[in-house]
Amino acid sequence: MAREPALVVHGGAAPWEPAYHERAVAGCRAAAEAGATVLAGGGSAVDAVVAAVRALEDNPVFNAGVGAVLGAAGGFELDASIMDGKALRFGGVAAMPDVRNPVEVARALMDHGPHALLCGPGAWDFARAHGFTPADPAELRTERAERRLAEFLAARVDDPDARPDPGTVGACAIDADGHVAAATSTGGMTGKAPGRVGDTPLPGCGTYADDRGGAVSATGEGEAIMRVGMGKAAVMRMRLRHSANDAARLSVAELGADTGGIGGIICCDRRGRLAAAHNSPHMPFGAGVIRSGRTTFVSGLALAPDENLMDLLERARGA
Ligand code: GLY
Repeated sequence: MAREPALVVHGGAAPWEPAYHERAVAGCRAAAEAGATVLAGGGSAVDAVVAAVRALEDNPVFNAGVGAVLGAAGGFELDASIMDGKALRFGGVAAMPDVRNPVEVARALMDHGPHALLCGPGAWDFARAHGFTPADPAELRTERAERRLAEFLAARVDDPDARPDPGTVGACAIDADGHVAAATSTGGMTGKAPGRVGDTPLPGCGTYADDRGGAVSATGEGEAIMRVGMGKAAVMRMRLRHSANDAARLSVAELGADTGGIGGIICCDRRGRLAAAHNSPHMPFGAGVIRSGRTTFVSGLALAPDENLMDLLERARGA
């Protein structure tokens, strides 16, 4: 069914240090523009979410690709996934060392299979066979990631107000044919144990998409998000005729009530309505809707409890 193409991105539900606020919002806006450019050119929702997440992975402000956090052993293990709502196709990579754009490897796995999820060295065997090469860890490393690891190792991040790490990224889109897609990418948690895998690469947890409901990308404490199957639950809510906004809010409320977890979610329902919700102090976001060849964008650091992404977009369109 023909739809107005639309896309929403997040830059991670967490407390964000003030020094990064402006850059996080600008990065989400740029990623929304990258995804919207694909949609405006007649591209698919799958291509749009890859373009948006790739832009966020390339931005050192976010905990994904360049800028990813460091594990306890001082190295990078990245998680990413993508899902195509048209045929429930899925690809994910988990605990994959030293990869700059894991979303692209996840996309290659979704397209070429035969598996849906690969981890560690096996993910690299697949990636090399499809033309990817490992990044130099120096290319991914930031002063901020090193500082956070040093604080973690000195046991100075027991403070619950400092969790989760800011910067997991994700995107959800609907294209002109009414197909939806979602993608998510992260470095995980500072100081994580080798082999730790969060919600991000798991279908139905960090990422899910089904044309009959919509697409979602989750962010926050992976261990909690997994326990409530947040991605699939949100899409089921949309299949049961909840709007994207209701699905996002109910899913975040469930995460908090059932697990005490901190997190957030972005949703795009099958009608093209976009939403974002979080119980963290911040969740940088960007969104764009294309109507009659003109794209309207909004971006911000957090959504107030009574704020609704579609209202913000409507206001921006009228401005
Ligand atoms: N939500 C990202 C992670 O827990 O790894």
